Amino acid sequence: LSCRSLAIHRHTFGEKYLGGRLTRAEGSDLYDYEPEAGIFAAEVLAGLQQTVKTIAPKYFYDERGSQLFDAITQLPEYYPTRTELALFERYLPEVRQQLVAQPFCVVEYGSGSNKKIRRGLDVLQPAAYVPVDISRQYLLDNARQLKTDFPELAIYPVCADISASFTLPEEVQAMQKLGFFPGSSIGNFTPAEAIEFLQRLRDTLGHGAQVLIGVDAKKSVAVLEAAYNDAAGVTADFNLNALQHLNEQLQANFKLDQFAHEAHYNDDLGCIQMFLRSRIAQQVEIGGAVIEFAVGEAIHTEDSYKYHPDEFLHIAQQAGFTKTALWQDPDAWYSLFLMRA
Ligand code: AVI
Repeated sequence: LSCRSLAIHRHTFGEKYLGGRLTRAEGSDLYDYEPEAGIFAAEVLAGLQQTVKTIAPKYFYDERGSQLFDAITQLPEYYPTRTELALFERYLPEVRQQLVAQPFCVVEYGSGSNKKIRRGLDVLQPAAYVPVDISRQYLLDNARQLKTDFPELAIYPVCADISASFTLPEEVQAMQKLGFFPGSSIGNFTPAEAIEFLQRLRDTLGHGAQVLIGVDAKKSVAVLEAAYNDAAGVTADFNLNALQHLNEQLQANFKLDQFAHEAHYNDDLGCIQMFLRSRIAQQVEIGGAVIEFAVGEAIHTEDSYKYHPDEFLHIAQQAGFTKTALWQDPDAWYSLFLMRA
């Protein structure tokens, strides 16, 4: 791995320092905003020391977690991905018509395996693509593969936590922007966090940018709960992998077989909630600290909010977006919003 590292984006927004590095990693330029390991350790420990032990869902996404999520999207019970893909298939030409100025750039938040944008590139024809993901190696591998398959496309990978601020690569700053946030990942924020996220997205992409965003809708509890409790146990492995990630990155000693996956719909909040429940009373060492678990005590690992279109529009409006278009599947299980900042 050859590394050329030069300080580029250095901005101070209020108290918060935002530093990015341009790094040459395995042949790709990477704009690197990956949080330092110390921040990661402090954040995880603080979450596990709360009364209700919590790990933020972003800790699912190490390389294996990203691959497991990919496997989830192919499960028969996990309807959001195929429903959203059918909506893309049908409505991307209409999205393209809305993008009048050329050249434009797609900025994908949480780009993962790039599967969705791959399907859209021929229709959308962007000049540049900025995949943003926290899983650095997965981001680089997928960016390299995409470049092989679409040699004309300028690709500027950004390694960043999308729940924090980052700056776009200089090469795309003058272009028109289409933010792309598929998969109902917005549902993994609380409604208040979703507003803050959309405000940051608006600040990053600039006034007048468009954003295409997929949002899972409220529906029967049986359908929702089946999607997070698949028969093959892939979601359970995905949930447990967060502990394996902590074992590797923070030298923790979670025993994965001593925790059980749990997912159920919380009707009051309007979200699926995922937990890892301790099968026994146990102690776990992590980052030099000891965390005590009572038998049956749970770690809260994820919320996945589901929104009626009107509920989501209310959130988007509070963040400064107006609706350009809304498309849904015939069952109204999933919504695709095109919005303008
Ligand atoms: C990424 N995110 C939108 C998924 C969801 O449905 O909330 C993550 C996931 N968790 C369990 N299965 C899928």
